[in-house]
Amino acid sequence: MKKFAVFGNPITHSLSPVIHQMFAKSTGEEILYEKIQAPLEGFEQAVMDFFAQPNAVGCNVTMPFKTRAYEMAGQSSPEAQVAKAVNTLARMHEGGFQGFNTDGVGLVADLKANNIVLEGRRVLLLGAGGAARGVVLPLLNAGIAKLGICNRTQSKAQAIVDEIACERLECVALEAASDWQAEIIINSTAASLSNALPGIDSAALVRCEVAYDMAYAKEPTVFMRYALDNGCDLALDGLGMLVEQAAAAFTIWTGKTPATREVVNKVRAEYT
Ligand code: ATR
Repeated sequence: MKKFAVFGNPITHSLSPVIHQMFAKSTGEEILYEKIQAPLEGFEQAVMDFFAQPNAVGCNVTMPFKTRAYEMAGQSSPEAQVAKAVNTLARMHEGGFQGFNTDGVGLVADLKANNIVLEGRRVLLLGAGGAARGVVLPLLNAGIAKLGICNRTQSKAQAIVDEIACERLECVALEAASDWQAEIIINSTAASLSNALPGIDSAALVRCEVAYDMAYAKEPTVFMRYALDNGCDLALDGLGMLVEQAAAAFTIWTGKTPATREVVNKVRAEYT
């Protein structure tokens, strides 16, 4: 049986095994998918041990190991190179592993699945950490008109803009966000994890159509509530992105494209 795993620390709450088993069932695969809590000093060894098993096909990687997974990968996708972070490793025929970052394609797939048109839109991305870096290229590749990056520490947003050097990408100062006329605002900051707001003025949300929080919880996040309270039409959380990034990894490993919407609904109903 093909073997998969997700590495993290902590890892107890990971939904990846449940999601991948649902994909396996719907695509006729039989898989083993385990959670592995690697010790902080022993991540690389744990990955090597995993891939030493002949039936090990691939693994996911989550906090705090995504940067180290990137450093381990013999080759990595363009998205992973921009992010300097890998959430998916796949065994290469010639030995070693290839690294991918499927977070961004997951985000774009979830936005599309929610009938949100990206082509020609002005999208404002809040945050400039690893989570933001992971989604910049797929958003630009989805045909948006302009991607603004807005971060509490502006120099980090500017660094991403300088690195990618795309005329549709620009750095937006926090105090300029309300005048930027974003149609879609995506929160990638770690603020939601501590029930805090990302520091954007409420005026930025008044004419915004979609507020997307990469975080998710049983109840709408503080950012989603803030967006709706201030006039934004629609607020979504990141559970769909979680499922879609997993689906992209599943496709890399198996060549099969699992259906995702029923998985999102099931995971939301039964596991959040
Ligand atoms: P991740 O990999 O989740 O992106 P990270 O690389 O540590 O984590 O980045 C965290 C991001 O959340 C950063 O953009 C950070 O802003 P700074 O660069 O100014 O630190 C942002 N962030 C975290 N807490 C925040 C808060 N309370 N308000 C606004 N931004 C916050």
